[in-house]
Amino acid sequence: MAVLVWNPKWETGYPLIDEQHRELFRRLDLLMEAVPAGNPEAVAQDLLPYLMDYVDSHFADEEALMVAAGYSMVDAHRALHRGMRVEVTRLLERVALEGLEAMGPVLEWLLAWLVQHIDSEDRRFANQLQRTAQIQAKGTP
Ligand SMILES: [Fe+2]
Repeated sequence: MAVLVWNPKWETGYPLIDEQHRELFRRLDLLMEAVPAGNPEAVAQDLLPYLMDYVDSHFADEEALMVAAGYSMVDAHRALHRGMRVEVTRLLERVALEGLEAMGPVLEWLLAWLVQHIDSEDRRFANQLQRTAQIQAKGTP
């Protein structure tokens, strides 16, 4: 049973981004279930790379979308993505030293970061995409 359930209030209204966010949460949920179950091999070898690979491809997709849309805050947004990856690497180094018990707080941190980031920065971008689409629709004869 899922520990983490996607909340529709996290939707930005931009389908591709929302779909990828839901997939991020699905993968994070698999980790949240595996950690208390005490399955360190599954966590370290399978589920963690499974999540972080998707984080990387999602960030790349979002940034490409921003560049294509001429989003003025792309550099700042990219820096937030990089900062998250740096922090996760730092936290995982601690898990490597302290063991799987230290993983719980890492997942909590990741969840909090994602919710906050989606609800503020990603929403800001999605809103701009929608505004641009409306302006373009109005400008079409
Ligand atoms: Fe983002």
